Amino acid sequence: MLKTIYLDNSATTPVAPEVLEAMLPYFRTDYGNASSLHALGQTARRAIERAREEIAATLGASPGEIVFTSGATEADNLAIKGLAWTEKQKRHVITSRVEHPAVLRTCEWLESQGYDVTFLDVDAAGRVDPEELAAALRDDTFLVTIMAGNNEIGTLQPIERIGALCRERGVTFHTDAVQAYGKVPIPVHAVDLLSASAHKLHGPKGVGFLYVRDGTKLLPLVHGGGHEGGRRSGTENTPGIVGFAKAAALAFGELASTPKRMRGFRDRLIDAITQIPSTRLNGHRTESLPHIANFSFQAIEGESLVMRLDEHGIATSTGSACSSPDLEPSHVLLAIGVPLSMAHGSLRVSTGRQTTSEEIDALLEVLPTVVEELRAISPFKVGDARCTPTE
Ligand SMILES: Cc1ncc(COP(=O)(O)O)c(C=O)c1O
Repeated sequence: MLKTIYLDNSATTPVAPEVLEAMLPYFRTDYGNASSLHALGQTARRAIERAREEIAATLGASPGEIVFTSGATEADNLAIKGLAWTEKQKRHVITSRVEHPAVLRTCEWLESQGYDVTFLDVDAAGRVDPEELAAALRDDTFLVTIMAGNNEIGTLQPIERIGALCRERGVTFHTDAVQAYGKVPIPVHAVDLLSASAHKLHGPKGVGFLYVRDGTKLLPLVHGGGHEGGRRSGTENTPGIVGFAKAAALAFGELASTPKRMRGFRDRLIDAITQIPSTRLNGHRTESLPHIANFSFQAIEGESLVMRLDEHGIATSTGSACSSPDLEPSHVLLAIGVPLSMAHGSLRVSTGRQTTSEEIDALLEVLPTVVEELRAISPFKVGDARCTPTE
């Protein structure tokens, strides 16, 4: 069987062998409940607290500022709802149009509960304008939530500047750093709340954390036995937490090398793929995460492209399909002003620490032919306006 060339690492990553190795004892032998008093329980407790210290160190934080969760969706919900529920007077939240659904849907839910949410527009590269954000701040704004790096197009946000504006106005600042954590330096000093997820950096699925700056008050989403300092009840996922710490140690240990290699791959992809006629890069050329590159091809459905590449053993992802009325194009691509026709023909290529130069070569070898073949059978022609009402 053909070995898959996996270029969908912003969806999830393979667990690193070292991570699996570190987790196995907590399934096999050290399976105690970390709340139990016996030796097995205390072994698990020590492992969790060691992991908490290691993860805190990656952020220059103290261990008590790390709350383990079931992933970043929960961490985002805890940050946003948990803070909103502590507020008695203030009702206003600011976010952007390009956030992950874990933030967008949570903010929309707050709106349904009577809160007021401002969804900031972004520029053509996907960046929030700090001046616009400053102008949107109100006396009753209690939260700004803006992601560190975008999961679809990779664009980095001016987190430091946004954090400074929030600090000046006494507003809590949350950042979803799921794609940025372990890939680019994050100015944690500018942030009050930060979400991350293990499975995006070669750790296991189903474990994440929320960094909660000392003094930031949150109400829990999950009530029960009072785990995680009462901020997130539920028996701790010992193997997952240990695996997350190992994955973080690997990523931060390689911070000077792996992201650089990924950026080299990204540059090569951009240089080669934008040579294909009627193709564009989505997102910022340089102010970007190193591992994500997103392209649009005119007169092609992204889904068809992904399926054809899959037949060649190459796993990638897309936005949405042009001809299918119930498939919405990506909200991120629409927010950066990509014409509808091109938003439907998008391809996201995302690399991981296992990605090799040969794998990038393999994609670049088949992609132009696949694009040509799909255009030849497409009902839409390059430059065709039928699918391009906004062009
Ligand atoms: C930016 C961003 N936020 C949140 C999430 C959700 O993370 P999890 O899968 O851990 O719930 C993801 C993953 O798709 C993401 O890319």
